[in-house]
Amino acid sequence: MKLLPGLSLALVLAAALAVLTIKLWPLPPPTSVVQLTGDPKRGAYLARLSGCVACHTAGGEEPLSGGAALNSKFGAFFAPNITPDTVYGIGGWSFEQFVRAVRQGVSPEGAPYYPAFPYEFYASLTDQDMADIWAAVQAVPPVAQPSTPHQVGFPFNVRDGIRVWRSFFEQPQTYVEDSSRSISWNRGRYMVQGPAHCAACHTPRNIAGGLISDRELTGDPAMQDGGRSPAITWRALTVRGWTKDALVAALRTGVLPDGDAFGGSMAEVVHGGTKYLLDQHLEDMATYLLNLE
Ligand code: HEC
Ligand code: HEC
Repeated sequence: MKLLPGLSLALVLAAALAVLTIKLWPLPPPTSVVQLTGDPKRGAYLARLSGCVACHTAGGEEPLSGGAALNSKFGAFFAPNITPDTVYGIGGWSFEQFVRAVRQGVSPEGAPYYPAFPYEFYASLTDQDMADIWAAVQAVPPVAQPSTPHQVGFPFNVRDGIRVWRSFFEQPQTYVEDSSRSISWNRGRYMVQGPAHCAACHTPRNIAGGLISDRELTGDPAMQDGGRSPAITWRALTVRGWTKDALVAALRTGVLPDGDAFGGSMAEVVHGGTKYLLDQHLEDMATYLLNLE
C-alpha cells in the first residue's frame, strides 16, 4: 500500500462517491395523509386480504410478532415484529410513519425497505384503508420479541442498494376505476392488482427480481422461493376450464375442481388470507380474473 498512496486514495474517493450517489438516489417524498378514525374490524379484514397477517406471523406464534423465513434468490428475509410493542414492534410509530412504510416502502429513518415487503402493491390503499389497518395493528397484543435479522449476503445486505433497484424496477400500483365495467369487476381488479398482490407471484420477474409488467399474471416459472406459478390471465383460466364458482370455491377452500389441493405458496395464500374473505369479494376477484361483466 505504501507504494500506491495515490491509487488507494483514489479508490477511497471513488467508493465514497459511489456511496454518496446511492444515498442521493431519490425515494418517494412523503405524501399527505388524512388522519381518519379507523375501524379495527375492517382493518383486520384488510390485513387478511393483504397478507399482512400471513407474512408477519410465524406458525404458532402471536399475531404479527414476526414471520417465517421468506426464501429468495438473494437470501432469506423475515417480516419483522409489527405488534404495538414500543421496543421490539412499532408501538412508538405515528400513523404517518406507518402509512409511509406500507404505501411507499420507506422507514421512519428514511431508509428504503426491501421489496420482499410488497409495498408496491399497497400504494393503492386509500387513507381510510390505512386508518383501518392501523387500528387493527394497534389492537393486537404487544409482543416483546426481537425481529429476526434478514440473512442476505453482500451486496444485498447494503440497504442503500435498494435505492438503485427501486429507481429501475419499482412499479407502485395506482388504481383508476374503469366506468365501462361493473362495480364487482372494478372491486375485483382493485383487490387482485393491489392489496391481494396476486401479481407478486403470478407475474414473471427479470433477473434482478423486477416484475415484467407486460407479462402480468402470465405465471412465473422461476419464483423467488424456487416454486413455479401458473398463468392466471382470463385466457389461461378460461382455457383450463375455470368458472366463477370453481374459482370462488378454490380461493375459499384451497381445493381445486378436480379434487386436488393447491400446493406450494398458494396453499398459504388461501389458508392465511383468501379463505377469510366474504363471498362477495371472492366473486369480485373471480369476475375480474375471468373478465366477466
Ligand atoms: C410477503 C410478505 C409480506 C407481506 C404480505 C407484508 N409484509 Fe410487511 N414486511 C415484510 C418484510 C420482509 C419486511 C421487512 C422489510 C425490510 O427490512 O426492508 C416488512 C416490513 C414491514 C414494516 C416495517 C417494520 C419496521 O420495523 O420497520 C411494516 C410497518 C409492515 N411490514 C407492515 C405490513 C402491513 C400493514 C402489511 C399488509 C398491508 C404487510 N406488512 C404485508 C414482509 C411482508
Ligand atoms: C405467494 C405466492 C402467490 C400469491 C401471492 C398468489 N399465488 Fe396463486 N398460485 C401460486 C402458486 C405457487 C400456484 C401453483 C399451486 C400448485 O402448484 O398447486 C398458484 C396457483 C393459483 C391458481 C391455480 C391455477 C390453475 O389453473 O391451476 C389460481 C386460480 C391462483 N393461484 C389464483 C391466485 C389469486 C387470485 C391470487 C391473489 C388473491 C394468488 N393466486 C396469489 C402462488 C401465489
